[in-house]
Amino acid sequence: MAEILVLNGPNLNLLGTREPRYYGSSSLETINTELARIAAEAGYKLSVFQSNAEHELVQRVHQSMEQKAAFILLNPAAFTHTSIALRDALAATAIPFIEVHLSNIHARESFRRHSYFSDLAKGVISGLGAQGYELALAAAIRYLKNQDNNRGHTQDQEAH
Ligand code: DQA
Repeated sequence: MAEILVLNGPNLNLLGTREPRYYGSSSLETINTELARIAAEAGYKLSVFQSNAEHELVQRVHQSMEQKAAFILLNPAAFTHTSIALRDALAATAIPFIEVHLSNIHARESFRRHSYFSDLAKGVISGLGAQGYELALAAAIRYLKNQDNNRGHTQDQEAH
């Protein structure tokens, strides 16, 4: 079963209580449970990982390469604006990913407007709260299903 990884950066373990005007009232566990349900229904395995440490996130990205994860949903949190190391890890894996932010990073302090990930991402969702993860997952599933269909089509052509 193909794997979709949900990777969350620092302080996102505090979702639910952390600055709810920006980040809403859902906990990370609630968000992840709903994502796992949606992924399973579509026939995908969902793995989740959150860390406050940059090197742990980098290592988890390396691991996803070894495990051949099919897609990553990434909220790098504050590392969005600082981490060349995490950017380089994602570039090295070449695993397609969508960048998700609960808050609208363009409507806040100017230092949040720059992301080290957006130009590498398949897409970026920012400002739609927890729903952003669900929309990103729907897009990832559609992307993977299209990829499978195209592969099947190519194999059919080769067989004829
Ligand atoms: C965030 C936005 C970042 O600027 C911030 O540092 C976060 C969360 C978001 O989901 O809106 O920790 O990525």
